[in-house]
Amino acid sequence: MFDDLRGFLSALEEREMLEKVKGANWDLEIGTIHELVTEKYGPALLFDEIPGYPAGYRIATNLLNSRLMQKIAMGFDESMGDMDVLRFWKDKTKEFVPLPPEEVKDGPVLENVMSGDEVDMFKFPTPKWHMHDGGRYIGTGMIAITKDPDEGWVNCGTYRCMIHDEKTLSFYASPGKHATIMREKYWAKGEPCPVVMCFGQEMLLYSLATISLPWGASEFEMAGFLSGKPVKVVKGKATGLPIPATAEIVAEGFAPPPSEDARLEGPFGEWTGYYASGRKEAPVLKVENLYFRNDPILFGQPPVKPPANLWFPIPLHTAATLWDRLENTGITGIKGVYVHGPGSRVIGVISLEQRYPGHARQVASLAGALLHGGSCVGRYIITVDEDIDPSNLDEVLWAVSTRTNPAQAINIVPGFLTSGLDPSLSPEQRERKEFTTAKVFIDACWPYHWKDKVPEISRASNELREDVQKKWKGLFTGI
Ligand SMILES: Cc1cc2nc3c(=O)[nH]c(=O)nc-3n(C[C@H](O)[C@H](O)[C@H](O)COP(=O)(O)O)c2cc1C
Repeated sequence: MFDDLRGFLSALEEREMLEKVKGANWDLEIGTIHELVTEKYGPALLFDEIPGYPAGYRIATNLLNSRLMQKIAMGFDESMGDMDVLRFWKDKTKEFVPLPPEEVKDGPVLENVMSGDEVDMFKFPTPKWHMHDGGRYIGTGMIAITKDPDEGWVNCGTYRCMIHDEKTLSFYASPGKHATIMREKYWAKGEPCPVVMCFGQEMLLYSLATISLPWGASEFEMAGFLSGKPVKVVKGKATGLPIPATAEIVAEGFAPPPSEDARLEGPFGEWTGYYASGRKEAPVLKVENLYFRNDPILFGQPPVKPPANLWFPIPLHTAATLWDRLENTGITGIKGVYVHGPGSRVIGVISLEQRYPGHARQVASLAGALLHGGSCVGRYIITVDEDIDPSNLDEVLWAVSTRTNPAQAINIVPGFLTSGLDPSLSPEQRERKEFTTAKVFIDACWPYHWKDKVPEISRASNELREDVQKKWKGLFTGI
């Protein structure tokens, strides 16, 4: 695994998977190039010589938009299929033994330090990414670092972050997110919340910041455990919070209670493909120190209208987590879990070996409760038999189309949490702050009580297929 963002970019460059772009403008041009390339599942992009900014002040985007890039970034064996990666990650993270970060005195992030009046968040060529964005979002592929005031553990989470003025940022963390809970604890004591934000860093810690680890599990310690070496950190001058020593750009400061300061944030082109949450007040960060490397690289991961992927092509953040959580309930028979749809967050599929009546419904309702964490997340839950590959949506739809009588197979249950980003909320629901959605449960397993009498699948046996493939080898090479 790489020590910093630059190591990953060099690996992509060596493999001719990185395109350098010179002279594109921060004002919509970089965002639109990113959108067009992302839609085509094109190469990683490194923008330089951005008009109005020193050469060397760069922006990297589209770094995780293919399965191969994701595997390189996170150190997976490149020959692994999606289900192998998910199973490996689920099993590995189960063995988690915290490896705390190592504090060092110096690191590249300290190459430039600006404090107090010198702080200027417009120093970097932060793009206006989408046409109707309400401002320049420096935080798209960022990490917000906060410490729980009561329990003392340190969280990393990814939340969008807009620049308001030279020294003020806002960050939108939705209800229930760890930074939201932590900052509210400080505010309840009448204190500002200390925050560090990194805008460009090594990919393992970044990836973990986008995955909902259990409350109390620090992404720093998980990154150390997974890579086998502690994350090197320097201590923030104002907050004492750990700052990854190889980060590219870091803002450090305090988030006051919203009653003291809150700014209008948004709209922003969101992961659902819309500007749904509009413009509203969000908590701010008053920046006291700005740290950055020489020739800093801002990492951008702005959403693009689906189906282009904002998150991981192989859905570690949803499928591996859901699989793990389902297993932890002690339930038996689960063969595989995958999550499809926008952001790989919306359509959960669980394949299982049915062992008793009601098994599929039990698994589905647990999955519906466990796959959550934002608008639309886990809105559709599909259970399939063990012969269906949950990562193959065509196969899943074959099961839905052929094994279900909709009159019995589909259940709609109202009242689950969604968020203001949910495009399907009516204006009246928004007005009432009624942030709930129904979830749809589709039981595409054969009915348990006659599963031994279902029609045979029309496909040659494995033995016959192997024999024919051996005999007619030439026919099958290259297809
Ligand atoms: C590129 C990207 C942007 C994201 N933006 C937000 C956001 O603006 N607000 C939010 O609450 N979650 C956002 N998320 C999801 C959170 O990062 C994710 O839920 C994470 O688990 C939050 O960390 P936590 O569990 O420690 O709170 C984003 C994820 C990605 C990959």
